[in-house]
Amino acid sequence: MPGPRGAALLLLHLVLQPWLRAGAQGPPQVFDLLPSSSQRLNPAVLKPILTDPTLNEVYVISTFKLHTKSSATIFGLYSSTDNSKYFEFTVMGRLNKAILRYLKNDGKIHLVVFNNLQLADGRRHRVLLRLTNLQRGAGSVELYLDCTQVDSVHNLPRAFSGSSQSPDSIELRTFQRKAQDFLEELKLVVRGSLFQVASLQDCFLQQSEPLATTSTGDFNRQFLGQMTQLNQLLGEVKDLLRQQVKETSFLRNTIAECQACGPLSFQSPTPNTLVPPAPPAPATSPTPPVRRCDSNSCFRGVRCTDTRDGFQCGPCPEGYTGNGITCSDIDECKYHPCYPGVRCVNLAPGFRCEACPVGFTGPVVQGIGISFAKSNKQVCTDIDECRNGACVLNSICINTLGSYRCGPCKPGYTGDQTRGCRTERSCRNPELNPCSVNAQCIEERQGDVTCVCGVGWAGDGYICGKDVDIDSYPDEELPCSARNCKKDNCRYVPNSGQEDADGDGIGDACDEDADGDGILNEQDNCVLTHNVDQRNSDKDIFGDACDNCRNILNNDQKDTDGDGKGDACDDDMDGDGIKNILDNCPRVPNRDQRDKDGDGVGDACDSCPDVSNPNQSDVDNDLVGDSCDTNQDSDGDGHQDSTDNCPTVINSAQLDTDKDGIGDECDDDDDNDGIPDLVPPGPDNCRLVPNPAQEDSNRDGVGDICETDFDQDQVIDRIDVCPENAEVTLTDFRAYQTVVLDPEGDAQIDPNWVVLNQGMEIVQTMNSDPGLAVGYTAFNGVDFEGTFHVNTQTDDDYAGFIFGYQDSSSFYVVMWKQTEQTYWQATPFRAVAEPGIQLKAVKSKTGPGEHLRNSLWHTGDTSDQVRLLWKDSRNVGWKDKVSYRWFLQHRPQVGYIRVRFYEGSELVADSGVTIDTTMRGGRLGVFCFSQENIIWSNLKYRCNDTIPEDFQEFQTQNFDRLDS
Ligand SMILES: *[C@@H]1O[C@H](CO)[C@@H](O)[C@H](O)[C@H]1NC(C)=O
Ligand SMILES: *[C@@H]1O[C@H](CO)[C@@H](O)[C@H](O)[C@H]1NC(C)=O
Repeated sequence: MPGPRGAALLLLHLVLQPWLRAGAQGPPQVFDLLPSSSQRLNPAVLKPILTDPTLNEVYVISTFKLHTKSSATIFGLYSSTDNSKYFEFTVMGRLNKAILRYLKNDGKIHLVVFNNLQLADGRRHRVLLRLTNLQRGAGSVELYLDCTQVDSVHNLPRAFSGSSQSPDSIELRTFQRKAQDFLEELKLVVRGSLFQVASLQDCFLQQSEPLATTSTGDFNRQFLGQMTQLNQLLGEVKDLLRQQVKETSFLRNTIAECQACGPLSFQSPTPNTLVPPAPPAPATSPTPPVRRCDSNSCFRGVRCTDTRDGFQCGPCPEGYTGNGITCSDIDECKYHPCYPGVRCVNLAPGFRCEACPVGFTGPVVQGIGISFAKSNKQVCTDIDECRNGACVLNSICINTLGSYRCGPCKPGYTGDQTRGCRTERSCRNPELNPCSVNAQCIEERQGDVTCVCGVGWAGDGYICGKDVDIDSYPDEELPCSARNCKKDNCRYVPNSGQEDADGDGIGDACDEDADGDGILNEQDNCVLTHNVDQRNSDKDIFGDACDNCRNILNNDQKDTDGDGKGDACDDDMDGDGIKNILDNCPRVPNRDQRDKDGDGVGDACDSCPDVSNPNQSDVDNDLVGDSCDTNQDSDGDGHQDSTDNCPTVINSAQLDTDKDGIGDECDDDDDNDGIPDLVPPGPDNCRLVPNPAQEDSNRDGVGDICETDFDQDQVIDRIDVCPENAEVTLTDFRAYQTVVLDPEGDAQIDPNWVVLNQGMEIVQTMNSDPGLAVGYTAFNGVDFEGTFHVNTQTDDDYAGFIFGYQDSSSFYVVMWKQTEQTYWQATPFRAVAEPGIQLKAVKSKTGPGEHLRNSLWHTGDTSDQVRLLWKDSRNVGWKDKVSYRWFLQHRPQVGYIRVRFYEGSELVADSGVTIDTTMRGGRLGVFCFSQENIIWSNLKYRCNDTIPEDFQEFQTQNFDRLDS
């Protein structure tokens, strides 16, 4: 049938099809499905759409944000009568999938799965679903994600049968919005071209070749990033418009041409493809007059030749196509001369490819004509960013197509992308030792190296400056940024907290007027609070401005719950919500008020929770009430057998991680996770944290769950003073027990302890009877260090520290006196003190009182009271206002004790290896006897059960001696 005219028409149709499809369907009809408040849609909106039998193409566009890995149904159509599903689009965030479900004619639900989609990642995404061939079967669905086609599925069974459902009973639902999710846009669009619909989402889609419909998903996804650059895309819109204008004029010309050959009528080749606008009325005469070449017979620039019966035009110029009379620009871009993802700009004539995508390099391609376009495709090659030093030096760099990734440091280097990768550091190899010459280099478990300034030096470890008062702040500012690089605000007085109440740059410890109120500290009733008026309503030693009970005399200023209201005037001292008079533990928070033995003292504070002892008396200050105190302690660790969680194993710390009543030291499975600590199927790679599956992704033998925090106490091992004890994290003496060693004696007053620097500094201000401030933490093996300083020229008496404290009759003390002196009370016996540092084991038969007092004073053994384990043979006393650093190691398992003293950075006294097993572990504290103004500064303790190497040597030597 098709005659020449019919053939021309068909050709015309084929050439123009994209344009016809794009422009001829009229403007898109957009239905906003996102009502402002409700999740349901007025069914009346859907009615005309779903009942339109001519409708063959439907688009759903949506913009939404879903939090990571969540799943949500973005939209769905359901029957409002029986809730059955017609159509539903669901994002499965965890599976990286989207699923389209729809009802087929046969009443079954059909499922279309789109794979490998990152739709739920906390970011905003634009989705366009294009459903075509809805009414005719073999339909298809295309999915566009963020302006790029990512998938399409064809030959779907027929979806909707139009009017078969009553639209009144259809409702649309969108996902229930969670806080992090939101649905910004949901529209149903009919009519209009894909291009137009996409532009509603600010997407300007490239025409894709037929192959794009099958397997371009991966390809397109690769260029997702570039495709969405709005600027570029807006340019494309302009180009497309330009192209459309061009095509329109070509159409007009072609029609004009055909006019010349005869009348024609348009027929729509397919019922659903709309026709271009009607051409101008055809000429009535079939034989027009002969025309000759004139100025516009041929296309601009085309040679015109007169012939016998008219004229002939030469070929169209390069880059144009046509018969010479009309020539239209060829869209070379259709032949894809540009690198995928690069915008192709069609010019008249010719084309141009824009620059290569980010991460690629290549020439700008520009040319004219199809053959040029086909044979000169733009080549973009990946840039190897790794060569240009994209990642930090000495790290692994992985070049990828269009981009790059930075990995960890190369083998032999440590650090990361932010800190940089440095050569592996080592303490053993001087070349790899990063520490200051005045620092100690410490190799950690993970192979990391830390640098700690030596005694008498302060800084960050890489730079260390002189620190004359040994409080960890240098005498002069150091060129580093750590806190401990700042200049000491009291150069000669240890103040490891650098407290400075008036902010004048002079620390409180050495500021004569610490609060800057013009009243010197000695006269000031509020040393640290500005109070010129010195008003003091209750006439205690604290002015109103700093008194935590202004109207009640309370020189101790005790404030158990730290609420700013002193205990003396706080009707709920422990802040547990139960008033003191009703509270069975007024100073220990216990909301439950449990009291097993019914003695009126709550279990939380009862020194004998199972034995009635209303008076709570505890003469030996071991925190166990006399009524239940057996002092029967087989292993000597300070915990009597009846309450010791390992009665025959030394474990002063009593750590019981899994709280099963069996202490870790004698528990085969400390964390109760079924993996034994040591024996197969163990050893447990996280001994203190339950991990029955023993996950260890880096295979370093330490389980993932306890990799950086072995005991999971939320303090990372690097700074945890007890990495294998969840109950001890940082040095802290803020909570302490005061033990008075001569309670009867009235020779002097009791000590006054002031705790500073978050519990890492203690100051004793009074010239007092002997006394102890004892922390509550009990230790097995421990290292204990601190700075000792007597900040006065008054007096010459004892000061020191204690360890292995079990009760007020059982502890070790290291004590130091300035000068030789006989105690002024000669009863019960004459006691002579010598200068020189002494290490004593106190095991008193009498307990606190004059016997113990005089025995402590006396340099030497006193039977049934004190044994002198070591005395510094130099026999020199401490100097006024000079800082000394002590370093103690105690390993109660073997009885190892060694204490060293430094003056500045010089070691001045060393007990050497001393063995004593009187106390198998215990608590730590400080000691004073008749000396005021003592500072224990920059205190540090660390759990440490490692037996020092010199213990072995010591044993060997002593055996040798025994042998010979
Ligand atoms: C405390 O009570 C016990 C009996 O429960 C008694 O033996 C002891 O003497 C009392 N102590 C004081 C100091 O009152
Ligand atoms: C624990 O003690 C050992 C032996 O004295 C010592 O080498 C080691 O450095 C100490 N560990 C810590 C963390 O201080």
